[in-house]
Amino acid sequence: MSQLTQSIVKHQHASWVELRSDRLLANLEALRQRSGTSDALAVIKANAYGHGLNEIAKILDGRVNFFGVATLREGLELKERHPGTPVFLFGHPFPHEVSAAIGANLVLSVSSFDKAKEISDCSEQLGRQTRVHLKIDTGMGRMGIKVREAAREIMKIRALKGILLDGIYMHFPTAETDDDFRAGQVAKFSALIEDLDRGGIAFRFRHAQNSAASLNLKTPMLNMIRPGLALYGIYPGTGFADAACLEPVLSLKSRITLIKRIDAGDSVGYGREYRPDRETTIAVLPFGYSHGYPWAAWKKACVLYKGKRYPLAGKVSMDYLTVNLGDRKAAEGDTVTLIGEDGDERITADELAGWAGTIPYEVVTRLNPHIPRIVLS
Ligand SMILES: Cc1ncc(COP(=O)(O)O)c(C=O)c1O
Repeated sequence: MSQLTQSIVKHQHASWVELRSDRLLANLEALRQRSGTSDALAVIKANAYGHGLNEIAKILDGRVNFFGVATLREGLELKERHPGTPVFLFGHPFPHEVSAAIGANLVLSVSSFDKAKEISDCSEQLGRQTRVHLKIDTGMGRMGIKVREAAREIMKIRALKGILLDGIYMHFPTAETDDDFRAGQVAKFSALIEDLDRGGIAFRFRHAQNSAASLNLKTPMLNMIRPGLALYGIYPGTGFADAACLEPVLSLKSRITLIKRIDAGDSVGYGREYRPDRETTIAVLPFGYSHGYPWAAWKKACVLYKGKRYPLAGKVSMDYLTVNLGDRKAAEGDTVTLIGEDGDERITADELAGWAGTIPYEVVTRLNPHIPRIVLS
């Protein structure tokens, strides 16, 4: 960290997120290597999985084929601030959003003929053609044209004058397991693509590989990976560590705002859940569930201070965490790591999610966007 960054961190922020750009780029490269596919759509929706949309987009700008976002608002923000990379909008734009999405030159996802027609008509009115990727529902059961109806619908969509068919894609509900269901999805999608190909309809991009499938599925039928979680260095499940070496991009840090010594039998926090049976030191951190710390983690969670783990003392509050430091000497202003590394210790988003009984996706995406993001290296 540069002197300037250190001084900004030290003097301005009570809590902050640090982002390692070198790790983000290394994770992207590892996914490319493992999948054998160099084209990539980087999923940076939900504020880049809570990491910070603009910070992550700035690092990846010009290095991926597309940025993938879920909302028009994120799409427009990216177009304004990082015009070098095409933006793909996963979401189905509402009628009032269609002209803005087309005007901003977003690449749109299409899950029905009616939406394709709406996009086409609006594009024609604006005197342009809009690139779309057709979403096919092969088993996710969410967005997408049902695979058995897809060939017929695509023939109709193809005839629309305001549309340019640029891609076709699908999504796996169980990508982490290479089971019959997933194999069935791949088979249905392949059959559709071959069928369309024979009819003279080919797509520049054919994609399905989220993080798990980027790590455990290789097929020439797909020519672009579409990872989210793994880009940020978080494994999409157990059993992937051998597939590629991914390193967490994000660390979450806070600073001790108050230290107090409490007596045996004193209580700490809401519900008076923590009552030590001997004198101990409590450190108060200005970080609570309103900043994104999962409330449900309080019984099991630890933080790192000077290379060691210390447990939370009592429930997570809206703006504070209380930590039991035992007899450890500490000073107000000292840094505490909530997610990340300190010495030989490491707390991952996955571990924190486990303490809270949730998934790492939820832990990172809920980090409050107002927490300062500092990009390192
Ligand atoms: C359609 C689609 N593709 C790709 C992804 C990325 O998934 P992952 O973060 O598991 O890589 C998501 C995530 O929600 C998604 O909805």
